[in-house]
Amino acid sequence: MDDISGSTSSKNFIEQRRQSIVLDYLIATSTHGLRSVGRAYSTLNRLFWFFSFTVTCGMMFYFVISNILQYCSYPTQTKVDIRLDRRMPFPAVTICNGNPYRYDNINQSLVSYYHRLTSSNLTANQTILNSLLIPLIVDLFTRNQTDELVSIGFQLSDVLLNCDYNGIDCSNAFTVSVSPVMGNCYTFNWKASGTVFTVNDYGETLVARDGLTLWFYIPQELFFPSIWYDNGVLITLHDNDELPVPTETGIFLRPGASHLITYQKSETTFLAAPYSNCTTAVSDDLRDLYASTFLDPIASTEVVYSESLCLELCQQSYIYSQCSCIFPIPFFTRKIFTNDNVLISAKACNIFTGQIACAILARQRLVSNDSLQSKWCSRCASQCKHIDFQTTVSAQDAPSEGDREYWSKIILNPSSNVSVLLPSNIAQNFDYYFDRNYLKVQVSCSSKYTIEYNQEAKLTVIDTFSAIGGQSGL
Ligand SMILES: *[C@@H]1O[C@H](CO)[C@@H](O)[C@H](O)[C@H]1NC(C)=O
Ligand SMILES: *[C@@H]1O[C@H](CO)[C@@H](O)[C@H](O)[C@H]1NC(C)=O
Ligand SMILES: *[C@@H]1O[C@H](CO)[C@@H](O)[C@H](O)[C@H]1NC(C)=O
Ligand SMILES: *[C@@H]1O[C@H](CO)[C@@H](O)[C@H](O)[C@H]1NC(C)=O
Ligand SMILES: *[C@@H]1O[C@H](CO)[C@@H](O)[C@H](O)[C@H]1NC(C)=O
Ligand SMILES: *[C@@H]1O[C@H](CO)[C@@H](O)[C@H](O)[C@H]1NC(C)=O
Ligand SMILES: *[C@@H]1O[C@H](CO)[C@@H](O)[C@H](O)[C@H]1NC(C)=O
Repeated sequence: MDDISGSTSSKNFIEQRRQSIVLDYLIATSTHGLRSVGRAYSTLNRLFWFFSFTVTCGMMFYFVISNILQYCSYPTQTKVDIRLDRRMPFPAVTICNGNPYRYDNINQSLVSYYHRLTSSNLTANQTILNSLLIPLIVDLFTRNQTDELVSIGFQLSDVLLNCDYNGIDCSNAFTVSVSPVMGNCYTFNWKASGTVFTVNDYGETLVARDGLTLWFYIPQELFFPSIWYDNGVLITLHDNDELPVPTETGIFLRPGASHLITYQKSETTFLAAPYSNCTTAVSDDLRDLYASTFLDPIASTEVVYSESLCLELCQQSYIYSQCSCIFPIPFFTRKIFTNDNVLISAKACNIFTGQIACAILARQRLVSNDSLQSKWCSRCASQCKHIDFQTTVSAQDAPSEGDREYWSKIILNPSSNVSVLLPSNIAQNFDYYFDRNYLKVQVSCSSKYTIEYNQEAKLTVIDTFSAIGGQSGL
């Protein structure tokens, strides 16, 4: 019995000891609530403290967890800056002739294409020849006849009288690119082709207005007759490594006028993952699009990602899956991704078979079906960086009496080396041709301040830790 009672008392002792350990902890702990539970002098008092401790503890955990969740949703904020940029690179300026094809040159190509098509030496009637324009261009591109492709269009030297950038002669600072719709286009200040002029690069001659000035003689008499094209010049301002898309961002300039284009630059930058899904990586199909547009391989080395071009290319992928060919408008390209992300070579659709009708139908189906688009274009993430040039265009009547006098001396001088395409009777009808075909354009920076919009993280890890530290004081 003694043994038993002794063992009971030792059990009680252990239990009491355990209780006292807990009590000691409660009293000694720095947690205010728990100390009050330990010091409680009555059950009611202990219940009160226990209850308030539980509630505040619950609140603390609630706030701590919400802090962590808030951090994990990666909230962002946008910072706006207006920054003076004295070394701002001048934008790339792309010039396309309003009517890209020279009637005299393209006629030869059309005739030989017609002969190849019909495998005969029959002389074709001009209406039929002229209707073969698009098939001819697609055929030349498919057969890699890029020299002929460039030669049927206007060269820059055929139309450019003079080029001046802040007093520097810039007639040779252009990079050629080709597109099926706009033919040969010429880009000034293209990054991959060499040095990029900045707004504070000056030459040694006096200039009235800073920026780029171009003088053109547009030989309208040699234009290919087509309802697609008008008489003038298409100009596009874009970033120095961004593909020019004159069909989307081009500005029409008309002959018989002097134009002024002023721009202000703005830059928008988004944070990459995990803050947003944006990308700067240039995929292989996009790289190939740059390479087949800028014929020179060196000119397509430094290029940037563009979401709109990616969407254009995923449209081509869909068209290829439906019609086994790609639509040759608005870009020339040779490589596309299949839906399994395999890069393949693809041919342009044949205009003379049902392929082109199939391609047009497929394109229509894709753009009108959102679920189809998200399936095929899921790889087209948004751009992390957008560079925009806000332009203002204005024009005055030209040529002035002074222009006419100045240029007639140069153009009509037999020893001068003017390369523009002049009609044979220019000397007799100089004023008529010059008034009709003269075009001047100046591009200048209206403000050296760049507007910058930068996405920034709203919460850092440190913010979150300090917030948690603050909450645990509850
Ligand atoms: C185009 O070539 C054909 C065949 O050589 C010729 O008959 C026609 O006159 C030419 N047209 C032009 C506008 O040069
Ligand atoms: C077309 O003309 C060329 C030279 O003028 C000749 O050699 C060729 O045999 C002719 N082809 C046909 C199909 O008549
Ligand atoms: C060319 O041929 C088409 C059809 O064959 C005909 O309608 C048209 O009148 C012809 N044009 C000329 C200039 O001969
Ligand atoms: C054209 O050139 C590309 C790349 O240089 C090449 O892959 C393709 O096979 C060529 N096509 C023809 C028809 O020569
Ligand atoms: C990124 O893309 C995924 C899947 O498409 C989407 O669930 C997520 O919300 C996107 N994230 C952001 C920040 O847009
Ligand atoms: C969109 O495309 C999907 C997949 O091809 C198809 O199932 C769906 O019916 C289409 N929706 C419409 C509105 O055409
Ligand atoms: C025209 O070009 C020739 C050779 O290309 C050169 O010798 C001559 O000086 C040039 N004339 C002018 C006026 O620039």
